[in-house]
Amino acid sequence: MLSAQDTQLLTRVGPGAPMGDLLRRYWNPALMSSELPAPDCTPIRVKLLGENLVAFRDTSGRVGLIADRCPHRGASLFFGRNEDDGLRCVYHGWKYDVEGRCLDMPNEPEESRFKDKFRHIAYPCVERAGMVWTYMGPLALKPPFPEYPWNLVPDDHVEVSKRVIQNNWMQSLEGGIDSSHVAYLHNEGGGQRQIRNANSATQNLTRQDTAPRFELMEIPAGVLIAAQRNAPEDRYYWRINIFMLPFWTAPPGGIGPATRLTAWEPMDDFTLMRWNIYFNPERPLTPEERAQCHQVGGVDLGNEEYLPPTTQPGGAFHGIRNEENDYMIDRELQRTQSFTGIVGIGTQDQAMTETMKTDNLGPILNRTLEHLGTSDSGVIAARRILLRAARKLRDENVAPPGTGDPSVFRYTAAGIVLPRQESWVEAARSFFAAPKAMSAWPSEGQRWR
Ligand code: FES
Ligand SMILES: [Fe+2]
Repeated sequence: MLSAQDTQLLTRVGPGAPMGDLLRRYWNPALMSSELPAPDCTPIRVKLLGENLVAFRDTSGRVGLIADRCPHRGASLFFGRNEDDGLRCVYHGWKYDVEGRCLDMPNEPEESRFKDKFRHIAYPCVERAGMVWTYMGPLALKPPFPEYPWNLVPDDHVEVSKRVIQNNWMQSLEGGIDSSHVAYLHNEGGGQRQIRNANSATQNLTRQDTAPRFELMEIPAGVLIAAQRNAPEDRYYWRINIFMLPFWTAPPGGIGPATRLTAWEPMDDFTLMRWNIYFNPERPLTPEERAQCHQVGGVDLGNEEYLPPTTQPGGAFHGIRNEENDYMIDRELQRTQSFTGIVGIGTQDQAMTETMKTDNLGPILNRTLEHLGTSDSGVIAARRILLRAARKLRDENVAPPGTGDPSVFRYTAAGIVLPRQESWVEAARSFFAAPKAMSAWPSEGQRWR
């Protein structure tokens, strides 16, 4: 349970909100590079942390991410002309470059230096791993680019997908941490929709021991959440999830040979973008493997079938299964094969988090009504870490964890089977301590010992 006040502190991310200030101190994904396929292409709307932005790729190929509201009289720059290394507002012709400089003010006298007197809001962007990353905090405090594991491999080792989810980001992030729901929500009953990625041995262990015991280990930028399940031959299966600041989670397993991490990035207080990053540390992904990452009914996002695209922020990434059509739940499938009757693991998650609602806080779940059990210890830890970092920043101006050292983000999830007397903490420590280990992360089947 969380007080109403802490719930507000935890969930609200707009400009000026303490959690918004915290999230703005990290490099975060803004869009896929492919959404701006060529120089001078059509600008697109982006919404991040409650801010309406427009992204464009200029004539030189640089990506700009600037406030959508023209600083002259507030017209939307989405309608702007993307030409000659800048975006020109179609209302009175003022033009801005990727750094927010006003390049031209054609309706002012030529001798006027007015255009040099201000900067439009523009956030720095870096392209890596098929994504455009941005930093929305104070420029003087811009941290080094984070060494998330996929940022350490060539781009062709990485596949990215995304989808809009209509609930507060924390609801989804908490689902990404909580591994005890996997045996229920994502139980496909062994039918043809059986979870395909993971080695069936560990999947079976997950299903057979549905009440795991939880242990936590705090890491510099988050927490490892280990779920202990019984395994044959006097061993334990440790399924180690991660929460990394500001909003990354990773369950063990991925798709085939790809490891996965997920970002639950707030577009605003009531909408988030779920980013799934798949990568192989050792080699490029094949076209088949890339396709698998998006496949209908697949293990992860599943049914990545989108509604017809719109030009609204994230408008090309709304799944066809949604709250309005009850996520196309198939009650016959639910009776015979699948725990939910909903197709696609991502949609199963979405169906739960989008429909968690309480009257007095609108679409943000009222945490004072919760009854948390031992299986929620990871969720509690992640909330604590976020609240602590936001308070320390707000009250003591303490730099957020990880913003001084990009190497603290070199984590993925893990699934390890160990003799009962052996410590998972030691196993995890030695694994994550060796930089080489990241590139040598074995496939799930090889982790048995
Ligand atoms: S409102 Fe954009 S140029 Fe006037
Ligand atoms: Fe899930």
